Amino acid sequence: MRSVITGTGIGVPPHIVTNEALSRLMDTSDEWIRVRSGIQERRYAETGQGSTDLGVIAARAAIAKAGLGMGDIDAVVFATMTPDHVLPGNGPLLQAALGLRTDLPTFDLRQQCSGFLYGLELADLLIQSGRYRRVLLVGAEVHTAFMPWHLGWNTLIGQSTREITEAERAENTLSRDRTVLFGDGAGAVVIEARDGEAGILKTRLFTDGTGAGVLTMTGASFKRRPFVTAEQIQAGETIPVMSGKEVFKSAVTLMPQAVREVCAEAGVAVEDLDLVLIHQANLRIIEGVQKALGLTPEKVPHNIERYGNTTAATLPILLHECLEDGRIQPGMLVAFTALGSGLHWGAALYRA
Ligand code: ACO
Repeated sequence: MRSVITGTGIGVPPHIVTNEALSRLMDTSDEWIRVRSGIQERRYAETGQGSTDLGVIAARAAIAKAGLGMGDIDAVVFATMTPDHVLPGNGPLLQAALGLRTDLPTFDLRQQCSGFLYGLELADLLIQSGRYRRVLLVGAEVHTAFMPWHLGWNTLIGQSTREITEAERAENTLSRDRTVLFGDGAGAVVIEARDGEAGILKTRLFTDGTGAGVLTMTGASFKRRPFVTAEQIQAGETIPVMSGKEVFKSAVTLMPQAVREVCAEAGVAVEDLDLVLIHQANLRIIEGVQKALGLTPEKVPHNIERYGNTTAATLPILLHECLEDGRIQPGMLVAFTALGSGLHWGAALYRA
């Protein structure tokens, strides 16, 4: 018996924010962002639209695609680093919004950029336990909540047409190495127990907490009293901080290793992979992983140019698009890999 993805769906918010639009807010350029990250535009959620809302849109589509009704789902895994609230988690909020049964568990995962991959292994284990047959796995983020909105960001979602002052541009420029990289979005998959060849073949997950410092957001912290202050928000401390070069080096080394490992454990040669879906953080990282694995660019699809980094949502959005446009066909061997804050990383091998 295998864990098979029988339906996918996405929830991408309405506002398309181009690199040119960001250039009006800070000292950046389309060229810098494109060359360094491959990103051309990203989506921003409406004010008041949270990761649960985007997850609900994606989940509805995935459940419909699987040909199931709301009463058929018997476990939920929700991965996000930008939950609607500190408590409760997004799982119960999504369950209530969708009208799912109440005799089911919902699991809220973090694991940042690796959230979907961790969710995939958890969903597989839930199914392999024999206790659950249909798991809904959601990855959703609203990163724009941590952008410095007091500095004129509402112009990006059409809420204001005011001119940005020079002082605001200067302040926005302080966090430009991070703010330009992120977007909002959600993806969901339904995973069902099925007999046959198709399904999850292997998963491998890793954590190295000694690397926790390379990508953090400590501006809001329960170690403080109170846990966040207006001064911290003003100082941009609620925006993730990263050592970009360290993240880059870890990503292009550890993701290929993880892919090689799942392939070796499954007795599959890396060159026999039909497609490798890589967490969409940066086009240069994606190309680095592709080269390290010795794969042709056609085997490594990407959509970072349209969405930026949507953390837990990048893999399910990319998977959905590859299934919809036929790049994934039945029988194909597909690997997934991700790395992010934690450090958490890993890979999964899947037969479509
Ligand atoms: N626009 C214009 N200039 C900028 C911007 C911007 N948005 N951001 C930084 N700069 C400037 C810097 O101030 C610096 O200027 P200086 O040389 O005068 O000091 C210059 O550009 C170079 O900055 P670096 O940080 O050295 O740029 P780098 O080439 O390392 O690229 C990047 C930064 C894209 C973040 C890179 O380090 C990278 O790819 N890191 C990988 C991490 C990543 O993509 N993380 C995403 C989230 S984590 C995840 O999902 C795994």
